[in-house]
Amino acid sequence: MTEKTLNRSALTAHAVRKAAEISPTPFYIYDEAFLRARCREMKDMPNAYGITVRYALKANSSRALIRIIASEGLGFDASSLNEAKRAILAGIEPDRILLTTQEVPAGDERDDLEGLLMQGLKYNACSLAQLASVASFAARNKIAIGMRVHPGVGSGESVTRNTGDKYSCFGVHLSDMEEALAIARGASVVIDRVHVHIGSGGEPEAWRENIERELGFIERYFPDATTINFGGGFRVARMPDEQAADIFDLGMTAKQAIEQFRERTGRKLKMEVEPGNYIMANAGSLVSSVMDIKKTGDDGFTFVLVNGGMEVITRPLLYGSRHPFTVLAPDGTVRSNEFDLDSATTEELIIVGRCCESGDSLTLDAGHHIVPRAMARPEPGDWLVVGGAGAYCASMSPFNYNSHCQAAEFLLAENGDIRVIRQRQTLEQMTQNECD
Ligand code: LLP
Repeated sequence: MTEKTLNRSALTAHAVRKAAEISPTPFYIYDEAFLRARCREMKDMPNAYGITVRYALKANSSRALIRIIASEGLGFDASSLNEAKRAILAGIEPDRILLTTQEVPAGDERDDLEGLLMQGLKYNACSLAQLASVASFAARNKIAIGMRVHPGVGSGESVTRNTGDKYSCFGVHLSDMEEALAIARGASVVIDRVHVHIGSGGEPEAWRENIERELGFIERYFPDATTINFGGGFRVARMPDEQAADIFDLGMTAKQAIEQFRERTGRKLKMEVEPGNYIMANAGSLVSSVMDIKKTGDDGFTFVLVNGGMEVITRPLLYGSRHPFTVLAPDGTVRSNEFDLDSATTEELIIVGRCCESGDSLTLDAGHHIVPRAMARPEPGDWLVVGGAGAYCASMSPFNYNSHCQAAEFLLAENGDIRVIRQRQTLEQMTQNECD
């Protein structure tokens, strides 16, 4: 009989125990088969005249994972020059990377950017200053560039993840478009890609509505554009009660709209998307250990203290995101699994980490209020397996806060092997760049 999985990935109690023999908790563990399947699903997204899927590196930039994704034929979305350089260090060819950044590289970084552009790195101008700074260089070297357009309308799973409305400053705003086009014309630079990313995890309907809107920008302002990039942001279901975006359905809408655009204008556009969460979120789990249990009186709460809180998974504190929990005994017995809860054996508990922050909890809502969750009461020494932790956890955590060491990362390989893909940081490594 095959062993039960603990969450949406193929992680089993057996795999957790094997990994725990190699490295102390907390650690992350990623499911290779899941990751590859998600890459393929994205590549199969319906499209009219070809699709490039650019994995958003910021979701998780661990080298082994980048290489798996590259081997599936995906391209990459980099949000900083360093992110692009890191992918190149992992063996990714520069021409598979599109840089869409808030940075305006200067000094040595400017030289590096020019060097990488000459090697084929693709670039989206995201502000008038960025455009002015690269336009002549690009034109002189016959390099076409893209433009990230600020559409004025966005949608995110929280306010902090909406990148398209007036409260966020990503891209060249429509009200600056005439000026941007004048800069581009003045430098004779070709703009061959138009990019919009409305936010992360927002309403799928808002993603759909952006398709026509963005095509409208191309028709109105960008006669040389051959590629339309719709960004990432596809909603992911981490919890049993959450509903993910329907990639096939969104792709069908994009395909039809791009075909109609062709009928209208005679122009064939290639399509790009940039998923981070959708590819990586449910591929990964975080495994921590239960250290202690405390109570705050009869009218208070029961707190389960684990050694993997905000320093390894910041999303609950930052966004009120919910991640599914599995409570696992040291012998591998599943005490409770959020995908299969038995109310007779669960209690309402609060999970907190070990940082000296009252917000260091995995059971918070978007207003930072503590929200107890049903699970079996663990014993100290049990594991807490937190699902949906592949994206923006290892890559987006203040891991050295309270002087904790950056956690190890494992790959659960397709053949069932457990491989270390990042060693746990040592205290010496944490302090090695400090000077007296
Ligand atoms: N493309 C661009 C230009 C982006 O800024 C982002 C995310 C993506 C693609 C990928 O979005 P995704 O498919 O991963 O939702 N830290 C948050 C998400 C915010 C990421 C910001 N930009 C989270 O933990 O969900």
